[in-house]
Amino acid sequence: MPPITHPETYPKFQKQLGKVAVLAEMINWCIRNPLQGQPLALDDPKMTAIQSYVVW
Ligand code: HEM
Repeated sequence: MPPITHPETYPKFQKQLGKVAVLAEMINWCIRNPLQGQPLALDDPKMTAIQSYVVW
């Protein structure tokens, strides 16, 4: 995870998304753009897991 993550600052305005975003939306931005992958559904257990990891 190249950037230093700040999960406690969400929801906040993210210029990449052009709106106030929750943490999961920023994670999906990273999956879609730098990682060129398929975004996860917000209720996918893998999304819950990666959010737990980021918060930890
Ligand atoms: C599954 C892997 C990844 C996760 C979980 C992840 C997670 C995050 C999170 C939580 C943020 C928000 C940070 C904040 O607002 O403080 C973020 C921002 C960002 N990530 Fe990722 N990221 C991943 C992979 C990547 C990769 C591979 C790249 C680039 C090679 C990348 C580039 C960025 C950039 C450029 C930002 C924006 C930083 C900013 O707004 O200042 N991410 N990422």
